[in-house]
Amino acid sequence: MADDQNAADTVEKLYPVLHKFVPAARAKLDDGAWDYLVGGAETETTQKRNRMSLDRLAFRPRVMRDVRTLDSTCTFLGRKLNLPVIMAPIGSLQQFHPSGGAGVSQAVGEFGAIHMLSSVCKPGLEAVAEAAPDAARIYQLYVRGDAAWVDDHIDRAIAHGYMAFCFTIDLDYYGRRERDKAKGFLSVSRQTQAVGEEYQRSFNWDDFKRIRDKYDIPLILKGIATAEDAEIAVTEGCDAIYVSNHGGRQLDHGRGGAAVLPEVVQAVDGRARVILDGGVMRGTDIVKALALGADAVGIGRLQGLALAAAGPEGVVHMLNILEEEVQCVLGNLGLTGYDQLGPEHIYMEPDTVNPPHKLSAFPLLEEGY
Ligand code: FNR
Repeated sequence: MADDQNAADTVEKLYPVLHKFVPAARAKLDDGAWDYLVGGAETETTQKRNRMSLDRLAFRPRVMRDVRTLDSTCTFLGRKLNLPVIMAPIGSLQQFHPSGGAGVSQAVGEFGAIHMLSSVCKPGLEAVAEAAPDAARIYQLYVRGDAAWVDDHIDRAIAHGYMAFCFTIDLDYYGRRERDKAKGFLSVSRQTQAVGEEYQRSFNWDDFKRIRDKYDIPLILKGIATAEDAEIAVTEGCDAIYVSNHGGRQLDHGRGGAAVLPEVVQAVDGRARVILDGGVMRGTDIVKALALGADAVGIGRLQGLALAAAGPEGVVHMLNILEEEVQCVLGNLGLTGYDQLGPEHIYMEPDTVNPPHKLSAFPLLEEGY
C-alpha cells in the first residue's frame, strides 16, 4: 500500500499536465512504434482536420451562477461513469506497454471509464476480461471471417461480460500510413491479422441486420462519417453511432470529426447514443463534443502516450487530469453538469489559433515531436 502511494505520488509529480506524457513516451518508444502511434494516412490532412475541427470551436460562457458543486459523471449505455470517456480501440497496445489491453482495462476499471478493446490487441478477449472483470469493457471487431466466425466473437464477448459489441467499418482497405511504409514498419497486429480482409470488405447492412436480429447486446458502428449512414444505422437498430475517421489513419482528406458531429446528431435525433473521436486530447475537447450532442468521446493517441510513458497507472492519472480539466471548463462555463450544456455554449470561429498538426493540442511542448 505504501509502495502504491509512493508510485502514485511519483506519477503525479512527473506528469502535472498532459503534455508531459509526450516526451516520456517518445523516450520509451523506438522510431517505428512512435510513428505508428502518432502518425496518420498520406498527407495527414484528415488527422490535422480533427484538431482543427475542435480548435475552431470557441466557448460562450455564462457567468454569475452558483457553481460550487460540479457533477462530471454520466451514464452511458446503462453504465455509471466518472467521465464520459472511452479508451478507443487500439491494436497492438502491447507495443506501447507489456500489459497491453489488460493494463488499459484495469486502468479504466480503477478510474470509472470504458475500455473498447480492439480485436487486434493482446492479450485478447478472455485474458483482458479475467484481468479486469469489473471494468466497463466493449469489444471491437474487425471482420476477418464468415458469419460463424463473427458470431463466435459476439458469443465470447457476451460470455465474458463485455457491455457492448462494436464493428469498425472504416478499414475496408488498410490506410496508407506513409511514416510506417517509408521505413518498412509493420505493427504486431498488422503482421498477424492482415488475413481475411475480404470479409471486412464485403461486410454490409444485410450482415448488420442479421446480427441485430440474432443478438440483444448493444451494437456500435465505429467509423460513421455522414448523416446518411447514421440514419441507416439507427433505422437498422444500432445502439451507438461512433463518429470517427480512425484518427486520420484511414481515408485521407476527410472531414474533421467534430465538423461531422452536428449532422450526425441531427440525423440520430436522440434515437441512439453518439460517440465522437479524433484529436481529443483535453478536457475542453470533451466538453465541446458534449455541447454539440455527443454522449461520450473516444481517446486514441493520448491513451497510447500515457500508457507508453507510465503504464496503466499513467492512464489512470491521465483520466484524473482530464476529469479536473472537464470540471474546470464546466464551472467556468457557469454549468454544474452536462444537462445544462448545449450548442448555445459554442461559437464557430473561422480560424484556429494554433496551426493544426499531430500534437498541436500541446503548444507548450518543445520542438521536435
Ligand atoms: C487506432 N485505431 C483503431 N481503431 C479501431 O477501431 N481498431 C483498432 O485496432 C485501432 N488501432 C489503432 C491503433 C493506433 C496506434 C491508433 C492511434 C489508433 C483508431 C482509434 O480507435 C481512434 O479512432 C483514433 O485513435 C481516434 O483519434 P485520436 O484520439 O488518436 O486522435
